[in-house]
This record gives sequence, structure tokens and C-alpha cells, in this order.
Amino acid sequence: MKILAIETSCDDTAVSIVEVKGSEKKPVFKVLAHNISSQTKIHEKWGGVVPSLAKREHGKNLIPLLIKSLQDINDNKVIKTPPVFNHKKIDKILEREGELREQFLQTIPTLKIPKIDAIAVTKGPGLEPALWVGINFAKALAEVWGKPLYPINHLEGHILASLATPQKINFPAISLIVSGGHTELVLSKDWLKYKIVGRTRDDAVGEAFDKVARILGLPYPGGPEISRLASSFSGKGEIKLPRPMLHSGDLDFSFSGIKTAVLYLVQKLKLENKSDDKIKAEIAHDFQQAVIEVIIAKTLTATKKYKAKTIIAGGGVIANTALREALKEEAKNEGLNLLIPELSYSTDNATMIALAAGFRLLAGKHKVSHTFKAEGNLNLK
Ligand code: KG4
Ligand code: ZN
Repeated sequence: MKILAIETSCDDTAVSIVEVKGSEKKPVFKVLAHNISSQTKIHEKWGGVVPSLAKREHGKNLIPLLIKSLQDINDNKVIKTPPVFNHKKIDKILEREGELREQFLQTIPTLKIPKIDAIAVTKGPGLEPALWVGINFAKALAEVWGKPLYPINHLEGHILASLATPQKINFPAISLIVSGGHTELVLSKDWLKYKIVGRTRDDAVGEAFDKVARILGLPYPGGPEISRLASSFSGKGEIKLPRPMLHSGDLDFSFSGIKTAVLYLVQKLKLENKSDDKIKAEIAHDFQQAVIEVIIAKTLTATKKYKAKTIIAGGGVIANTALREALKEEAKNEGLNLLIPELSYSTDNATMIALAAGFRLLAGKHKVSHTFKAEGNLNLK
């Protein structure tokens, strides 16, 4: 079975095709197409994602990414006679999609219906204007091609992203989701069962990386920039930022205080004429260190509290090299099984959405829907 997946929850437009084989006990996934179009250049000058621009860019990118994905599986044949479909229904689905609607009507009817078995799309959480573009596109494709459509939770995608390579998971498992919008610890006693046991009380960790980067004068998105700057610092520094909620005794996080601490420090250093590149690198280094210490400590507390045997990591911030290394080391010390997605499946992508849909299908826990809405604040259940 082949699943075509679409992801547009934030500022990356992504289309993937994944082959699904095996069973719930032994799923076998093969990534056949993995295409992403980043909008970083567009949002960079605004210092963060602008929802209306994200929506416009998704609209421009989806058809080219779909075509590229169909080329990747050699299933992009052009035909003379378009498939029979309900034009009025397509007009209605795409009525708010401007350029995407035009491109869709020019392109899709010229394509032979590809040999895919299902379409999956991110339903939420994320920016609603951005989510809607992907959802409307997926609904229209499903209609023209007569395929079942599966709405998928983006956070489940991040959790299941590691399944791109075969994995053995012993439950209970604690998932650590660290992204631009979320910082959560999730308990799973079995596959597809989620209970949120810890979360941020204010900023998400990726958001903190982005804000601190901005304070340090680095471009958006800040995560990779902080990581690069931090690794240029060596030696023993004098700066010691707070480790927020490290000893709070619960599983919650807070990252807005550390961002403010960086802001005050940078202002003070400027007044003292001490703000140079070396100090910036030291700040980036200690900030990253502080975040890692808190994340690791809370994750380990959660594994002990719930007697977890496995840690599943996911979300854009897990692309951070220092965090990956620290997690690997701690998991090894504690004798815990650790799942970390490959770098290209860590930040937003559509392969993780296809994997979640594929796993749900194998487990018989999928839900077909052609009428669902975008849910910006969708939770894991
Ligand atoms: O999962 P993701 O791609 O999008 C959301 O679902 O939010 O995560 C994006 C976040 C951004 O805040 C970005 O700065 C952060 O992940 N990020 C990183 C790194 N790469 C991306 N943070 C720290 N280190 C990185 N190498
Ligand atoms: Zn994400």
C-alpha cells in the first residue's frame, strides 16, 4: 500500500509518499518520496512566521512538490482525457485557494490517477490558515482521484517519525516532543495511546531558541543558528543562565524566563561595551546547555515516575546535535531504549504524517474523513 502525505502546519510545505507493508507488530515502511520546500527566506525578514505569507507560499508550492513526488515514484504520466470528477465540488473545496486552485485545475486533470492507495494530511495543531491550504488540497485530490483521506495529528507524526527505520519499542514509553510550538512529555502505555504528563507553561523550547537568536542578532529560524554559534565556543565560560524549573518537582517546563535573562544580559553587556562575538557565542552555548539540562532532567524524571523502558524523541529541536548526543548518553547510562528520528524526519516533513497514517492503517485505528476542519490547537489523545 502506498500513502501520499501532505504537511502544511507551519512554514514548511511538504509532500511524501511512503510504502506501507508488514503488520502492526512488525510494520515495514519505505520512504519513496520525501520533498520539502522551506519558506525560511520569506519569513526571515519578519523574524518569525507570518501566517498569511505561509498560506500564500503553501499554495504556490504544493503542486510542484506533488509533481516531484510522483516523478520520484515514476507515476507522473500525462493523459489526454481527464478523469471524470465533480467540478462544482472541486470549485467549492478550493474556493479560497486562489493560485492553488488555478494550478490545480490546470495540472491535476492532465495526470493519470497515480497508483497510491490513500492520502493523509495534517489536521492540526499548527497555524490554521496554513493548515487549511494542505487540507483543502488533500480533499480536492481525494475527490478527483477517488482515494480515502486520513486526517493526522502533527504531534503523532513527530512521535512516529522514528518508524522510518524499523524499531522495537518496549512500553511504557515516554515521548519527548520539542518543537517550535510544543514542549511536551507524553506517556504511552501502548501504541497510539497518549497521556500528556508534562508541558511548557509558556514558550515552547523551539520558540525560546528562535527568540534568543533574535536577541543575539541571528536570523530566523534561530535553532540551527544558536547551535552553530554555541559550537564555536570552547573553554570554561563565566556566564551561567538560570535552569528554569529544574528542581520544580513536576514534569512541566518554562522557557520564557531564560529568554528574558538573556535579554537583560545582552542589554547589560552592551552598556558595558562588552558585547562582542565571543560573548555572544558563550551566551548561545550556556543557553543551549541550560535548555538541554532541563529537558534531560525532566525526561528522566518522567521515565522513572512511569517506569518507562523507552524514550521516543521528536520535533524540530531534536535536530539539535548537542541535545541528540546528551539524550543518547543519558539513555545509555539509564539502560533505556531511545528512538530519535533521522535529521530529515526531525523538523517538519510529510513522511512523518505518512508514517502515522500507515501505522494507524496497520493497527486498524484509522479514521477516513473528507469533511474535517483544521484544528490549530489539536491535542494528542
Ligand atoms: O517541528 P518543527 O519543524 O516545527 C514545529 O512543529 O514547530 O520545529 C521547528 C523548531 C524551530 O523553533 C527551530 O528553531 C527549531 O525547531 N530547530 C532547532 C534546530 N533545528 C530546528 N532548535 C535547536 N537546534 C536545532 N538544530
Ligand atoms: Zn512540527
